[in-house]
Amino acid sequence: MKIIRTVKEMKIYCRKLHEDKKTIGFVPTMGYLHDGHVSLMNEARKHADSLIISSFVNPLQFGPDEDYSSYPRDEAKDVETAEKHGAEALFIPPVAEMYPSTLGTKVSVIEGTDVLCGESRPGHFDGVATVVLKLFEIIKPDIAVFGMKDAQQTAILKRMVEDFNLDVEIVPAPIVREADGLALSSRNVNLTSAERAEAPALYRILGEAKKLIESSELTAGEETEQWVINQLQQTLSAEIDYVQMLTFPELKPPASAEAEWIIAAAVQYQNARLIDNITKS
Ligand code: PAJ
Repeated sequence: MKIIRTVKEMKIYCRKLHEDKKTIGFVPTMGYLHDGHVSLMNEARKHADSLIISSFVNPLQFGPDEDYSSYPRDEAKDVETAEKHGAEALFIPPVAEMYPSTLGTKVSVIEGTDVLCGESRPGHFDGVATVVLKLFEIIKPDIAVFGMKDAQQTAILKRMVEDFNLDVEIVPAPIVREADGLALSSRNVNLTSAERAEAPALYRILGEAKKLIESSELTAGEETEQWVINQLQQTLSAEIDYVQMLTFPELKPPASAEAEWIIAAAVQYQNARLIDNITKS
């Protein structure tokens, strides 16, 4: 596997793959790779000849009081994981390579940012969309895989591809969980052992809400949101950032039990913010 650190070399590498008539499957990540990322790599390999991974903790998508500096990093482990799972190249650019000077242009996401993480992390999705557009331009992938763990991010990037007529297909992939239900996340290492022990309740409560909606014991929308908030408050020591039930994939209120829906939640622990969600099907 090739490790590439400069934009120029990455462009040359990917242009050569295209000349050789190889299709490119791309998995963008912020590194600290886990089995959730691996499932995206496996999915990408099903759709394309060559797998390219990027590992870049993107400063542009972190707010001033967020965890950019404490975000976990382990380059050696990322190299090993990417290689083991069939990546042809791993792109690990230094910040100065992606952002050599202050940006004069950035992507402004104007739909789907008034809810969930868009509401609680102002500017976050502008940072995500900007870096992903840059990565798409450097790598020119045929397909790119994104996890449903970040359902809002996947929906926003799908929309960006449509809006900008980008020649890449966004492929969504399901959430990978620990045996006890906790969604895999690079941030899980920043949980204390007591927080880690109680954190699986987040998904358990979302699953219980889904069952109660299916049996009509809970009404979709605000009643469900309030029920989930009450349960979380009784069970978790974390601060609840949001619980919202919306239509899916539009991410708009009001949700109804009959149409596709998502219940998404974010909670803040001492040193880790966790997000999770459940969908109708
Ligand atoms: P990161 O959090 O590293 O996630 C990279 C990809 O892995 C995302 O598409 C995310 O949804 C997916 N992923 C993370 N945990 C997962 C899990 N448990 N199951 C399935 N997929 C999972 O998301 C980002 O990085 C960044 O915002 C990025 C898109 C790379 C732009 O900087």
